[in-house]
Amino acid sequence: MVERIQPGDVIHPGKPSTVGRYGPLARLNHWVTAASLILLALSGLALFTPSLYWLTGLFGGGQNTRALHPWIGVLLFVSFFIFFFQLWRANLPQRVDWVWLSKIKDVVGGHEERLPELGKYNAGQKFIFWSMAGLILVLIVSGVLIWEQYFADYVDIPVRRIAVITHSIAAVLAICVFILHVYAGIWTRGTLRAMTRGDVTAGWAWRHHRKWLRDIAAQKRVDPAE
Ligand code: HEM
Repeated sequence: MVERIQPGDVIHPGKPSTVGRYGPLARLNHWVTAASLILLALSGLALFTPSLYWLTGLFGGGQNTRALHPWIGVLLFVSFFIFFFQLWRANLPQRVDWVWLSKIKDVVGGHEERLPELGKYNAGQKFIFWSMAGLILVLIVSGVLIWEQYFADYVDIPVRRIAVITHSIAAVLAICVFILHVYAGIWTRGTLRAMTRGDVTAGWAWRHHRKWLRDIAAQKRVDPAE
């Protein structure tokens, strides 16, 4: 079955051949998401514990941090979900993901020749995608429930208590997933340029996402300008 590929996925022949992976808008979208999550983590940790209160200095003091944090949350929610709707199909779980997961030792050991051929994303990337989607949903819902400036009159105190703890747990998990994501992006050499320049080498695509490369080639998506 030919895998669904996205509009910007195209082979650029030449030396070395490169393969387009993210267009400029998707990259802008991704980096707005990344910047907002980092700012949220810093401002959220500042509000979470007195020992990190000094972080409020980055946002112009305690009051400004408290006022800004929820709005940055709205920005993260909007930018992540614009990104989400561009990528969700390519992140749908497939049977091959279970095979890949069952060979996780070979993934970590660098024996990619023992792994099945993959589409645009592996199971690890899909895990990041879906867990971020779930956690950001939980964060925005629980965040609105504890946004006293606008919603204090509509939410009962017991509900707010549950929302505070839910919000904190989801935030800690999102920070863990974020660390995993950045680590994986750096650990797999040649991946970062997918989100900076927008393309990867054909060698990278052959090594890590061979089915994706084969499907692009099968559909003759070769840049005519080169
Ligand atoms: C400094 C922070 C970050 C770095 C260096 C980074 C790096 C990258 C790179 C290199 C890719 C391309 C991977 C590939 O196509 O194989 C990527 C994809 C992606 N990133 Fe990030 N990222 C960062 C922050 C974030 C944040 C905060 C989120 C979400 C809240 C996020 C969500 C995603 C998603 C959903 C993808 C597409 C992968 C998929 O759909 O499975 N990234 N990132």
